[in-house]
Amino acid sequence: MELTAQDVLNKFKELYPGEPLVVRSPGRINLIGEHTDYNDGFVMPAAIDRETVFAIAESVDGRSEIYSIKYNQTFSVDLRDPKPVSAPAWVNYLLGVLRQFVDKGYSVQPFRCVFGGNIPMGAGLSSSASVECGFAFALNVLNHHAIDKKDLIKIAQWSEHHFVGVKCGIMDQFASMMGSENHVILLDCRSLEYRYSPLELKDFTIVLCDSKVKHSLVDSEYNTRRNECEQGVAILKKYYPAVNSLRDVSENMVLEHKDELKGKVFDRCLYIVQEIARVQQASRDLENHDLQAFGKKMFETHEGLSKLYEVSCPELDFLVDEAKKFSGVLGARVMGGGFGGCTINLVKKDEVGSFLSAVRPAYAEKFGIALETYIVNIKDGTSVTSKSIEKINLL
Ligand code: GLA
Repeated sequence: MELTAQDVLNKFKELYPGEPLVVRSPGRINLIGEHTDYNDGFVMPAAIDRETVFAIAESVDGRSEIYSIKYNQTFSVDLRDPKPVSAPAWVNYLLGVLRQFVDKGYSVQPFRCVFGGNIPMGAGLSSSASVECGFAFALNVLNHHAIDKKDLIKIAQWSEHHFVGVKCGIMDQFASMMGSENHVILLDCRSLEYRYSPLELKDFTIVLCDSKVKHSLVDSEYNTRRNECEQGVAILKKYYPAVNSLRDVSENMVLEHKDELKGKVFDRCLYIVQEIARVQQASRDLENHDLQAFGKKMFETHEGLSKLYEVSCPELDFLVDEAKKFSGVLGARVMGGGFGGCTINLVKKDEVGSFLSAVRPAYAEKFGIALETYIVNIKDGTSVTSKSIEKINLL
């Protein structure tokens, strides 16, 4: 059963006194631009109608507590000196946010908090970013600070880097916090300049196919990829001193120095420079309403992620290969960090049924896994729910 904001509110009332502030924070999809964010490149994400909900209120007894509905666990928080814990792991996403509030001198009053949501974990829909962003946003409102959304995004990302241990880029937190209903975000991850572009898919829709696999190496492999990109930059910088990231590098520069970019570094750099260029072209395709061309680039991205960046897996490759067989699927690719999770597919609306009724049994037969699929709608980023707006006005 899907958890709603009302369920989170009810749970809060069952456990604690008072009328809480209720904040929702969405997961995200990404149309194109994968692993480009930590290379100062471009991405095209959007916030979706799956979210984490927080109910939070000041406590009267000076103690602070967080209750996770998913894990049915309560954690007592020491507000003076938040440190990462070895267990339960879910609490680190929140403790890192608190650490940043402490370090940046933003006071936090003792609180009681209940949270839960309906973003599938490990599906590449950024459930973790939604938790970090929602909590940072809630603390900001509850404690009457006026921290800028961009700073809250950085606080959330810091938590992921230092308390969770994944050196993620800025995309997930940015999309969760800044999403806009029915729009994609065209984000330049170097300057953090962004603009919203209406997502007009007409006869097409976005279908996510959840492979239901999550390979255990995902976090360490992610950090390795980032490291390989940094090695590439260090080598190219010797020849081109103005290079500070792969954003500053052209495909020709990578090809020119193939011999020096040893091991996997060449392949990694080649994929990234191609993908950064591809997002820029894809954004023009979207402006020109050329979904055919856009979809083709999604397939190209998958090819690069699978062969050069090596963040796909047999299950995801299979799902994309199956999608290619359908004329009603314009594009498909692995979405997010990779090594499992979802593919994102651009599918003709009246062919969704036939597409899924072919892919589901084929996937079950090949891998013995029941494919889960989601049709998502594009929503606004992190916000106070309308029900608790009144309470905010009283604060
Ligand atoms: C994860 C990270 C993001 C981004 C994607 C890949 O979702 O959190 O920062 O790097 O992988 O595009």
